[in-house]
Amino acid sequence: METSSILGSAESSDSAAVNYRGGEHSFHHSPPGNYDDKPKVKNECMSNPSSRRTSSQFRQKGVQVFTYKELEMATNNFNETNVIGHGGYGVVYRGILGDGTVTAIKMVNSNGKQEERAFRIEVDLLSRLQSLYLVELLGYCADQNHRLLIFEFMPNGSLQQHLHSPHTYPQPLDWGTRLRIALDCARALEFLHEHVTPSIIHRDFKCSNILLDHNFRAKVSDFGLAKTGSNKINGQISTRVLGTTGYLAPEYASTGKLTTKSDVYSFGVVLLQLITGRVPVDTRRPSGEHVLVDWALPRLTHRQKVMEMIDPNLKGQYSQKDIIQIAAIAAVCVQVEPDYRPLMTDVVQSLIPLVKNLSSVPSSSSRYLTNFVSPRSQRPSLS
Ligand SMILES: Nc1ncnc2c1ncn2[C@@H]1O[C@H](COP(=O)(O)OP(=O)(O)OP(=O)(O)O)[C@@H](O)[C@H]1O
Ligand SMILES: [Mg+2]
Repeated sequence: METSSILGSAESSDSAAVNYRGGEHSFHHSPPGNYDDKPKVKNECMSNPSSRRTSSQFRQKGVQVFTYKELEMATNNFNETNVIGHGGYGVVYRGILGDGTVTAIKMVNSNGKQEERAFRIEVDLLSRLQSLYLVELLGYCADQNHRLLIFEFMPNGSLQQHLHSPHTYPQPLDWGTRLRIALDCARALEFLHEHVTPSIIHRDFKCSNILLDHNFRAKVSDFGLAKTGSNKINGQISTRVLGTTGYLAPEYASTGKLTTKSDVYSFGVVLLQLITGRVPVDTRRPSGEHVLVDWALPRLTHRQKVMEMIDPNLKGQYSQKDIIQIAAIAAVCVQVEPDYRPLMTDVVQSLIPLVKNLSSVPSSSSRYLTNFVSPRSQRPSLS
């Protein structure tokens, strides 16, 4: 079974590459600031706001500083009709910059220490990280009390909406798309944990922080709670417990001891959501089924029970063999004992053959195969 690659090499491939710069990701070691500095506050307009800024130019220039006025113009004065979502840290607007670039503009509540900290972490981290599997930060605004983050716009919203908001997205995600999303997310976490030094723990990995591009390829967002591994003691960071109920690894929730294995647990919860279509905590379900992990874990290693857990929205359109393997991967990711959870590299290696198989069996229902693939979002081939 594919998961043998997970179980066999879980502790063997801690392959952190210093100063990684690969085709899919890059990590800049000359940040615009450091974690303790406030982001640069600039009240002036950008040097030439009318000049055309394509996404690749953004990439070359790095993260841009915007004035509040520019963002007011981009969002029609933060008009209600531009709102695309509400989160714990503020409201997200669709905005069109002066050069026509469509963006998602997050107005961070500027009334608390935690919000200010999240804003700074997001700017500091995302200005240094570049990966096809992370939502790109195009710029920020720190005009006086205003705190805004400008991201690339992800036209297909969040995985949360596709799995759990049938009114917004009535067509359920097909199995092939779900598998590709799982691999994209695994690669994002692999990058954060194993390809950058010091490693980064996302700390809020969940379906609403997985955003989908026009081809339904996934990118991970929201680094406001992220922690770098630079302040590790014996591989652990002791910290306040923040994150989202239902996704928190038990050892982190009970003791505040944070490791990359906390993200692996959250990834396992997302896999369970992809298989079952259930939310992590649902008190409307019968007793014994409220917490997804508690309900699913004892069933994940029984073929018949796994088959009974499958999201009815998949309407039988999946490979049973794949589902059994994904269930096995989810089972190791949500182990109570963090040391038994795999490294994300091993998860990636286990998912690759499943996704490769999809490409060799064309499916008319797979959105990925039927959609146009733009050069910008084209991913490297599987290896
Ligand atoms: N870059 C983006 N492109 C398109 N839509 C986005 C983008 N960023 C966020 N959104 C939308 O805005 C919603 C709110 O995002 P936000 O990150 O503020 O909160 P959340 O992730 O839903 O919740 P929480 O605050 O608990 O993390 C998302 O669920 C998504 O639908
Ligand atoms: Mg979010």
